[in-house]
Amino acid sequence: MKGKRLLKTVAVALVMGVSYISLGSVLESEPAFSNLIPVPREVLVGEGRFRIDDTFTVKVSGEPDERMYPAASRFLRRLDQRTGLFLPQDYVEKGENLSEVGLEIVVERPGQVNLGEEESYHLSVTAAGVRIEAETDLGAMHGLETLLQLLSADDRGYYFPVSSISDMPRFPWRGLMIDSARHFMPLDVIKRNLDGMAAVKMNVLHWHLTEDQGFRVEVKSYPKLHEMGSDGMFYTQDQLKEIVAYASDRGIRVYPEFDVPGHATAWLVGHPEMASLPGPYEIERGWGIFDPTLDPTKDVVYEILEAVFTEMAAIFPDEYFHIGGDENEGHHWDKADHIQAFMKERGIADNHQLQSYFNKRLIPILDELGKKMVGWDEILQPDMPTNIMIHSWRGQDSMVAAAKAGYSSILSNGYYIDLMQPASDHYLVDPLPADIDLNEDQRSRVYGGEATMWSEHVTVETIDSRIWPRTAAIAERLWSDQSVDDVEDMYRRLDTIALQLEELGLTHLKNRAMMMRRLAGGYETEPLRVLADVVEPLKIYRRNSDLSYRSYSPYTLLPDVAVADAKDARRFGALVDQYLEMGGAEDKAAIRAQLEEWSENHTALSQLAARSPALREALPLSEALRDLAELALSSLDGEATESAAILERAREPVAKVELQVVDAVERLLAK
Ligand code: ACM
Repeated sequence: MKGKRLLKTVAVALVMGVSYISLGSVLESEPAFSNLIPVPREVLVGEGRFRIDDTFTVKVSGEPDERMYPAASRFLRRLDQRTGLFLPQDYVEKGENLSEVGLEIVVERPGQVNLGEEESYHLSVTAAGVRIEAETDLGAMHGLETLLQLLSADDRGYYFPVSSISDMPRFPWRGLMIDSARHFMPLDVIKRNLDGMAAVKMNVLHWHLTEDQGFRVEVKSYPKLHEMGSDGMFYTQDQLKEIVAYASDRGIRVYPEFDVPGHATAWLVGHPEMASLPGPYEIERGWGIFDPTLDPTKDVVYEILEAVFTEMAAIFPDEYFHIGGDENEGHHWDKADHIQAFMKERGIADNHQLQSYFNKRLIPILDELGKKMVGWDEILQPDMPTNIMIHSWRGQDSMVAAAKAGYSSILSNGYYIDLMQPASDHYLVDPLPADIDLNEDQRSRVYGGEATMWSEHVTVETIDSRIWPRTAAIAERLWSDQSVDDVEDMYRRLDTIALQLEELGLTHLKNRAMMMRRLAGGYETEPLRVLADVVEPLKIYRRNSDLSYRSYSPYTLLPDVAVADAKDARRFGALVDQYLEMGGAEDKAAIRAQLEEWSENHTALSQLAARSPALREALPLSEALRDLAELALSSLDGEATESAAILERAREPVAKVELQVVDAVERLLAK
């Protein structure tokens, strides 16, 4: 490749804080290189630009899977939608005779959408054209995503900057779990999130399909399961297949979770004979851990499970199958005399052993179907066979213990995006930290991880804003080199990818505007926006500590408009730190302007709330923000004001959210 500066691992060097100057003017003029997420393995930056005009075409050669052609066509549509160019090619087809090609994709062989499949790619942009080479179409599709992230613009139009990128994943299992059971998620929600996953090179959808609150799949052999357990909100088998095909077209595996023996109330509504205690049972409407549990002593339980698993195995081709197994407290087992007698008879000492007995009866069923059992870390019990996989959620230790005992595992502890923690918390969690106490062989059994989108407090309207853009940070952790760990740089790149994800139909940004209009009862929402950008929803399950929520509750209020990383709070905190370090007059003026906006916002928000009762619960918080801002302003003016009561009030949660600017104000006051 031509080019004056060829810099190895440029992107990695960038996020490690190497200055732009040492990397030269190429990068300053080509910011797209420093926006890539996940950061590729190796980026060589050249000089020059490949210009895109309305003659740009794509050719596919080699022996890809058929999915490559629609994937290349989707790439073209995303390119013409972003550039506004009327590109001439309708679909990319096999064996097309094109005279001039803007992008050539060369694939050696069809990719299998299976764990461990080859996903690497090489992307080269020269002034004359673009080429993506990959062993499989899965790798080539990753290359297309990188290429779209490289799209740049200058006064002459759109271009791709000259470069040579070699890339491959660090972990083979880069997943997102979506809970469609607690709040049902229609097909388009799943599809747009699959598109988002593909954009950040994730490759596994773990689909949580049954819960106390809903049984979400059609079962032909036992239709009462979905008919009575779902309020009519379930996926037909054709719809499940449609999702599997949609995902496979994007190189994404889909495997289902049927959570048993706990979290299983919805099964029992139609089939109380599966329960440990006599019914009747109703669909659960609240959130928490509930007692209804499948009865491990009854053959009918295994008969129904076998029938369900058999129908599902035909729909989900993936070799992994999740049986849940979490949070079974066994209270109904304790209360059932026949279960106690069964345990005594067989020398089963406790509920853990009884659950092991239950799990072990599922293994031959899954074996017969060609499936490997996956379960939450509770299923890691002595004498379980090592061909099962452990899904670690309660702590990394279970993953380490599993790896030492010969099990494969994936990590979700640390990737619980439903906890509404900032992206930085998840970003720095590594499945294999440098100091982990595992040898090479044991490490090789840690396949990766999954972000978990539990859906108690998310709805169709809010799920995207809980998943994105934070999940892109987790995607990078699982794809990129371990050394890529600069938090500020990650946040900068999340802002960019958030906009690109929106193009895929994801609603994380646009729904917020709609939700604010509804909450404000009109088009004018700016005072609400000002407040929403400095608050975050209560974290780590504190939101429902008063058990006020039900599955049908309104998730349309301030905590639902707010997101896990309050934008203005983060910006303000950084500004304050910079000012405290450097004492710059410009920073001081910017701080003052922000504080004045907050100080004036309460009056404006009160006017909005006058016509919108739904908004009124937020007023005490906006008042606390005003008082906090005025306190900080007087401190900037050199006046001493009594602060303790104001700070304390500003720290109080109100309306299920918390202000995120109190620490920064405190730092300012301490100056
Ligand atoms: C879980 O979060 N109960 C697996």
